[in-house]
Amino acid sequence: MNYNKKTVRDVDVAGKKVLLRCDFNVPMAKDGSGVITDDKRIRAALPTIQYLLDQGAAVIACSHMGKPVATFDSWVKKQTEKGKDPATLTEEKWKKSLAELSLKPVAKRLGELLGKEVVMAADVVGEDAKAKAAALKGGEVLLLENTRFEKGETKNDPALAKAMADMAEVYVSDAFGAVHRAHASTAGVAEYLPAVSGFLIQKELDFIGGALANPKRPLVAILGGSKVSSKIGVINNLLEIADTIIIGGGMAYTFSAAQGGKVGNSLLEEDWKAYSLEMIEKAKAKGVKLLLPIDTVCADKFAPDANSQVVTAGQIPDGWEGLDIGPKTVELYCEAVKDAGTVIWNGPMGVFEFPAFAKGTEAVAEALSKTDAITIIGGGDSAAAVQQLGYADKMTHISTGGGASLEFMEGKELPGVACLLDA
Ligand code: 3PG
Repeated sequence: MNYNKKTVRDVDVAGKKVLLRCDFNVPMAKDGSGVITDDKRIRAALPTIQYLLDQGAAVIACSHMGKPVATFDSWVKKQTEKGKDPATLTEEKWKKSLAELSLKPVAKRLGELLGKEVVMAADVVGEDAKAKAAALKGGEVLLLENTRFEKGETKNDPALAKAMADMAEVYVSDAFGAVHRAHASTAGVAEYLPAVSGFLIQKELDFIGGALANPKRPLVAILGGSKVSSKIGVINNLLEIADTIIIGGGMAYTFSAAQGGKVGNSLLEEDWKAYSLEMIEKAKAKGVKLLLPIDTVCADKFAPDANSQVVTAGQIPDGWEGLDIGPKTVELYCEAVKDAGTVIWNGPMGVFEFPAFAKGTEAVAEALSKTDAITIIGGGDSAAAVQQLGYADKMTHISTGGGASLEFMEGKELPGVACLLDA
């Protein structure tokens, strides 16, 4: 796939209406109060928005938020599948579920960060959005409602894509977190407007794309997280590229069990044992160093206050479960990143949400903060871990995309990037 795309600097946007796709899918307080608990994704969109405004463009921003169900009937079907009693499922409750995913709080926060009013539309391509878009002048910002309130969004319905495109003259995508989705607002709309990338997408492509295509070597990939099954694509792709692959987190126990180790009650994917062995063989054949844990911190229950002990990997007693990599593994892994040219990290080493089992993840984060290597952190859990443990400002790049950065590292084509004009 060609990642050399035209950017917002390659088009004339002065006095034009620009449809800007952002990823404003930000975490909100669970109490329905509309409080945004982390505004990083809004801040990450500011350079592009500010640039467009400085150029005199009228910015029509849009984004999805969460996974609303756009029609009452489908909502009832989904809730019933989840075991809810259909008699309790009223239209009022469905509307409330939509209201909780409104982008209104985002408009407010974006306005505060920009220091100017952000006009909020009541819909995506309805009368209100159309009228407000038509009246929008250069230097002003409008935010459309949650694109997933339209049932055509996730189906990449051409009629919806065209209706969105009709409001603008140029399409700019800066929604890196959503570029793995071929939806109407992330890909479909590019059929109808000149389509270019914003600065955030550009930055993500430069760092992640650069590390994959032309890494400063040695390239060390650290892969963690709970499941082997969710990381197959990444392991496969990185086996072709990396010099060293380090495995940690819950998925290490499937590798251990596959080699005949005892894993007690640890996370285990029986169906992926054979695959794990294949990966070990493939790494040998390709001359890639594959590092697996040599010791484990295990616990007598999955809880922050569990009793714990350090055991040799593959010797977890019955009734105990591995929740972190052990101290010898920490030493081995930290040594491996010391002289790296590039480190890509995706997935924590243990249950970092419990302080007693965060040491492995923290030690790796600290080691990364000290190397001279280019350090690239995948979005989602790894980004959250680095943030929570206080090492965020020490990393070269922390991706704003969870699923998107994972699919990028898998070497998959990203529809939201492929649809943009080649440079
Ligand atoms: C994310 O949070 O990873 C992006 O916003 C994409 O969200 P989605 O998984 O609901 O498409």
